[in-house]
Amino acid sequence: MVDCRDFVVNQLLTVNPHVSGRGYCAHVVLLRHILLYVHLIGFALLLGGTITQYLTRKYKINQAMLAGAGTQVITGLILAAPFGRAVDPPPGKLITKALLGVIIFAMVFFSRQRENVNKGHFLAIAGLTLLTAAVAVFWR
Ligand code: HEM
Repeated sequence: MVDCRDFVVNQLLTVNPHVSGRGYCAHVVLLRHILLYVHLIGFALLLGGTITQYLTRKYKINQAMLAGAGTQVITGLILAAPFGRAVDPPPGKLITKALLGVIIFAMVFFSRQRENVNKGHFLAIAGLTLLTAAVAVFWR
């Protein structure tokens, strides 16, 4: 573990941008873990809200989906910063996830006031959410 000022210097001086962790600062790592925790709660809200609506066969955007989609984009973009990891996620993965996250958010946000959305639109939200989680887990 290194002093937090040394950590910032290490980040700035790193030659290979994909390998940013030449030492880490406990506060930065704790912050990243808290953000990841909130990111996973956002995932639970988005997918849980979507499945709940699907099981009741009422294709309406609910508050859990809206809060979850917003949480994913906000926490995801912050997590994408160089953040005290031994190896940072590949840029292609982050760009893919950012695009998917914004598309999902748009699909949820702009339909939030409709009494019902198309079944296809609804299933696309569920499918894209599962795809984004797969990208998060399997793309290393
Ligand atoms: C619906 C959208 C999203 C879903 C379902 C999702 C899902 C996940 C999951 C399941 C993880 C944990 C993976 C693991 O630790 O092995 C994760 C981590 C991560 N996600 Fe997302 N995510 C979404 C949106 C985003 C967005 C928009 C970004 C921004 C680029 C992003 C960036 C990240 C980063 C950087 C991590 C790694 C955190 C770390 O381990 O330090 N995510 N995501």
